[in-house]
Amino acid sequence: MDGNGRWAEQQGEHRVMGHANGVRSVREALLAATEIGVEYLTLYAFSTENWKRPTAEVEALMDLLVRTVIGELAELHTNGVRLNTIGDIDSLPENCRKTLQEAIEATKNNDRITITLALSYSARWEIVNMARKLATMAAQGTLDPATITDATISEHLTTVGMPDPELLIRTSGEQRVSNFLLWQIAYAELWFTPVLWPDFRKEHLFQAVLDYQNRERRFGLVSEQITPR
Ligand code: IPE
Ligand code: MG
Repeated sequence: MDGNGRWAEQQGEHRVMGHANGVRSVREALLAATEIGVEYLTLYAFSTENWKRPTAEVEALMDLLVRTVIGELAELHTNGVRLNTIGDIDSLPENCRKTLQEAIEATKNNDRITITLALSYSARWEIVNMARKLATMAAQGTLDPATITDATISEHLTTVGMPDPELLIRTSGEQRVSNFLLWQIAYAELWFTPVLWPDFRKEHLFQAVLDYQNRERRFGLVSEQITPR
């Protein structure tokens, strides 16, 4: 979800206004995804690197997070949405953690769609943690390094139990991955749009999915193996 700051600056407003206006886009993306049967939507809301932004902006983002989760909870529940988070949740302010925990608990039995907020998340942070866990197990003798497979790695990332993303959308014209789900996006289709996040609407998500549906995913094979004649 990129481009909030630029969106606000374009209108002569403070960056925080852009974040506040991005909430509607989250709602639209979630509704659009739910409508077409997407089962997992993961939003990169706050990166490990974002902590280095000016304190006032970080505080405003945390505040917005709390207000949004509280304000949307009933609606999420009605729509069958299960809330989930990935990232270093322990590093979030106490009231954020509490609000998130309560919302996760309240929506845990919903099964229409899982919305995952990546908070204080970065893929390298996650991979470092995974390496530490596996190394500790190996050192303790509970894991034989020779038995480590792709699945072992996946099971020790914060996305454990979630399918790998099929489609990655980045807004605001940047064509980078910026430390997001690096292991998990090995075969994801990438979709970039110049639209700034606060302007992102249902039709943009539909456009991305249509585009995705017209691509041929070969997973390293040749075309004939995917669609035999
Ligand atoms: C994305 O918008 C939202 C967060 C990182 C929380 P930005 O704040 O990165 O907006 P730009 O890139 O400065 O326009
Ligand atoms: Mg940005």
